[in-house]
Amino acid sequence: MIKNTELKKQTAKQTTMFGTYEFPSYEEIMDAYAKEFANYVLPRGDTIFGFWMQTLADLEFLDLELQGLTEEYTIDPVNRIINFKGDEVFIRLRIAHLEKVKGKITLYTDVVDKFGDTNAYAFHNLYPYKGKFYPRVVRTLINAFKLGHDSLLLDPFNGSGTATHEASLMGIKSVGIDVTPMGIVLSELKNDLLFIDEQKLNFTPKELQDILQTIEDKRWKHPDLLIHKLMLAVYFDTVDAFVRTTRYNRKGKAGLFIEKINYIKACYEKIMEIKGKYGLKFKPARIIEGDILELKNMSEMKEKFDACITSPPYYFSIDYVGKDKIAYDYLGADMKKIESKYLGMKNGQPKSNYSGLPSRVAMYYEDLKESIKNIFWALKPGGKLAIIIGDSTVYGKKIPTTMTAKKSCEEVGFKFEKLIFNPLLGARNRAIRGESVIICRKP
Ligand SMILES: C[S@@+](CC[C@H](N)C(=O)[O-])C[C@H]1O[C@@H](n2cnc3c(N)ncnc32)[C@H](O)[C@@H]1O
Repeated sequence: MIKNTELKKQTAKQTTMFGTYEFPSYEEIMDAYAKEFANYVLPRGDTIFGFWMQTLADLEFLDLELQGLTEEYTIDPVNRIINFKGDEVFIRLRIAHLEKVKGKITLYTDVVDKFGDTNAYAFHNLYPYKGKFYPRVVRTLINAFKLGHDSLLLDPFNGSGTATHEASLMGIKSVGIDVTPMGIVLSELKNDLLFIDEQKLNFTPKELQDILQTIEDKRWKHPDLLIHKLMLAVYFDTVDAFVRTTRYNRKGKAGLFIEKINYIKACYEKIMEIKGKYGLKFKPARIIEGDILELKNMSEMKEKFDACITSPPYYFSIDYVGKDKIAYDYLGADMKKIESKYLGMKNGQPKSNYSGLPSRVAMYYEDLKESIKNIFWALKPGGKLAIIIGDSTVYGKKIPTTMTAKKSCEEVGFKFEKLIFNPLLGARNRAIRGESVIICRKP
């Protein structure tokens, strides 16, 4: 913003045959128009919606988190403002859908401004794992479920660790489980990078070029496991980017690799600045490689969790293992073996008769129900569950995964509370079109 005194100096004087005239400068004109324009633009108030609130689902999410964070509130969706009673300092630190609370910007707004993105902040954008959560939805659900610093969150389909990472950023302890080794590596990296000494991320371009070469020669080893895995993950992402597009040819593999490491370093600096500014205390997550269907073998997990926020694999819509082929080929991992542990991928026949459903789909539904049963077992009484899931199309027919999941939740003993449908505008996979958040409570 240009101050008035600066503007005055820029006023241009022009002398013509009729006299000398003063004209406003370009900056003065823009400033005056911007001020007038602001009078007509919503929201106007001291507790206002974030510009990222675009859909009706966002409105429902805001409503949900206000239930968890305030004592009393009203939403005025036309003017995009809210009124509330409650702890404004706490709300400012936690809320994911408001830009300002009582005139001051929220932590989430600060993060969005710093990273220039509403989801790719902290280390959420470390690697393009398919079928990732929107971190904002996780934050919303954590708020809705009133989780605090003594709470424990579970994600048994943790994938690349969005839920565990978001919980860590919010100072909440969590446990993340997944069957895919690549998911485990990524979740651990996101977790560990929050606690690393900055110096460890300092590499010269020459050092990074050498590292790239040793990885290509399959000689890469680093005594610090975090650095070892980080370089490998960035390498896989670099190679994948090359396979997908020739756009990167100009930069070369080394250029792209260096750029990606520098991006991660910049993310580190930004998130540490936020941490210092707000006095945040990040909490580490526990990451476990395992199968949700075998959760009961870990007896210490019984009735341990206050909430579960999770997204099971969508039936056949996304090839979760195949997309990491570059990594598994490099590491010599058996992809078939990993895949066989996936929900619905075991050999055999479904236990019950499901009229009209292909038996593979029926087996997927049986595994899904078994997973929900295990989540029920792991939650404390009163514990909350949010399942994020979408319908897919098999042989041209839509299969009702969302409603089947809801039914399974009720059958295993959960009390259904709410379903929010979130359309994925512009989703590339036309079989999915949108996803739903199913919210339940263990009585
Ligand atoms: C929709 S993705 C979850 C993505 C995650 N929310 C994220 O943000 O990265 C589903 C995950 O379920 C995992 N999965 C599939 N079968 C599983 C099983 N039996 N036990 C545990 N995880 C499993 C897959 O490896 C995949 O990462």
